[in-house]
Order: sequence, then structure tokens, then C-alpha cells
Amino acid sequence: MNHHGSHLWLLISMVVSGVCLGNAQVPFPGKCPEVKLLDAFDAEAYMGVWYEYAAYPFAFEIGKKCIYANYSIIDNSTISVVNAAINRFTGQPSNVTGKAKVLGPGQLAVAFFPGQPLTKANYLVLGTDYESYAVVYSCTSVTPWANLKIVWILTRQREPSAETIAKAKNILDDNELSQAFLSQTVQKKCPQLEGNGTELSAEDDLDVDDFVTTVVPNAIEKA
Ligand SMILES: *[C@@H]1O[C@H](CO)[C@@H](O)[C@H](O)[C@H]1NC(C)=O
Ligand SMILES: *[C@@H]1O[C@H](CO)[C@@H](O)[C@H](O)[C@H]1NC(C)=O
Ligand SMILES: *[C@@H]1O[C@H](CO)[C@@H](O)[C@H](O)[C@H]1NC(C)=O
Ligand SMILES: *[C@@H]1O[C@H](CO)[C@@H](O)[C@H](O)[C@H]1NC(C)=O
Repeated sequence: MNHHGSHLWLLISMVVSGVCLGNAQVPFPGKCPEVKLLDAFDAEAYMGVWYEYAAYPFAFEIGKKCIYANYSIIDNSTISVVNAAINRFTGQPSNVTGKAKVLGPGQLAVAFFPGQPLTKANYLVLGTDYESYAVVYSCTSVTPWANLKIVWILTRQREPSAETIAKAKNILDDNELSQAFLSQTVQKKCPQLEGNGTELSAEDDLDVDDFVTTVVPNAIEKA
């Protein structure tokens, strides 16, 4: 491990204190970087259930497993969004519902609060084949010197193939988005969707938070 100046450490301590404040989201120096937007997007093909394979950590998902999103068309300009998860400690399911609007190819405005306007593209699909993977990106410039990013790798299967993940990671590379902060979502011992077998098991590997065990060491290694 080498020491690349102190800003990595600043970054990590910001991230770690973010976790403690229950406000975790990965901060990066500078403004939101440019990403490559899609030329075309088939919203209908994108609908349905997507499992979260991995994501940059953020508050909503701390301590959650079996995370998935279900998108469905409400009318020709509105999409319903349901994000659901299981609490890893209690086994309790939870969900939030929101709405989305397609503003451009792969550029969606998603809102979870009533009255929140659907005018800003805060959910960018950077790549998808609609059938196996999608890479989604969200970035907010909080000051001219810092931005908060979330990257998600979503998959149609709970346990996708290595090929599928490689395709998704290529899209991150194309956009120069770091894989170091990706934290893999636990998708084991999850209730089966639509099936009847909802045998919930509270015990999974409840080791220390994934964030501390995987993300930070990865980030340090790759810095
Ligand atoms: C969308 O729906 C509105 C009202 O339901 C209708 O007037 C409009 O023509 C529709 N647009 C398209 C592209 O289907
Ligand atoms: C969302 O949660 C509510 C209870 O809070 C539950 O009734 C509903 O079935 C859940 N929906 C999904 C899709 O999990
Ligand atoms: C996803 O949403 C659609 C449309 O509302 C619904 O029919 C389907 O059952 C949902 N799937 C799951 C797994 O919640
Ligand atoms: C539920 O699952 C069991 C065994 O997996 C199966 O025998 C049964 O037919 C299923 N019931 C329904 C309603 O799908």
C-alpha cells in the first residue's frame, strides 16, 4: 500500500464518518465528471425487476440485503419505481415507492418524495442490454470542489454470470468510474419474488459491515 498524498485519507475519513452519521455517500473531489450518455433508450424494455448486484454505498442501503427495484410504466410519461430490501439484522422487508420520468435517452428523473419535481436527470443509464445488466449513475455536485456519486450495477438475475458482470464493468471503465467503491450486495437467502417460497432466513454472514471489510481496503489498494 502506498501513500498517495493525504487526500485519499481525507476521502476515507469523510466516507467513514458519513457512515457514522447515517449519511453515507461517497464524496469525490471536483465537479461531477462527464459521462457518456446513451443515444437511444427503450424504456419499455427496461421495465420490470432489477436486482442490485453492487453499488457505491449510500444511506438508504446500509444494513440491507436482497435489494431490488421494480419499474413499471404508469402512463406514457411516468414510471413507477419500487425499491425493496430486507434488513440484514432483523429480516424485516421494507420498500419505498417513487416515480420517474424519462427526460432523454437513458436520462431519468426519479423522485421518492411527494411534490419533488421530476425535472433533473438524477438517474442516468450508462449502459444496458435490457436482458442481463444495467449500469446506472447518479452524481450531484455539492460544491464546486466536491461531488457525491452513486453507481449501481443492476442485473436481471439475482446471481448473474461473470460474463454479465464483466460487461457491466466495461461500462464503468468506459466512463472512468472507479470500481474501488463498489460494494457487492448480499443476494443470498432472499425471499423468492412472485414465488410462494418466502422462507426468510435472518442468518447470513453477519460479519462486520461489508463497507468496512471490502470497500475501504479496495479503495486503499487501488489508490
Ligand atoms: C401520452 O398521453 C397523453 C394523454 O394521455 C396523450 O395526449 C399523448 O398523445 C400521449 N403521447 C404519446 C406519445 O403517446
Ligand atoms: C411494501 O411495503 C408494504 C408495507 O409497508 C407492503 O404492504 C407491500 O407489500 C410492500 N411491497 C412490496 C413490493 O414489497
Ligand atoms: C413489479 O411491478 C409490476 C407492476 O406493478 C407487478 O405486476 C409485479 O408483480 C411487480 N413484481 C414484483 C416482484 O414486485
Ligand atoms: C408453492 O411451492 C410448493 C413447493 O415449492 C409447491 O408444491 C406449490 O405448488 C407452490 N404453490 C403455489 C401456489 O405456487
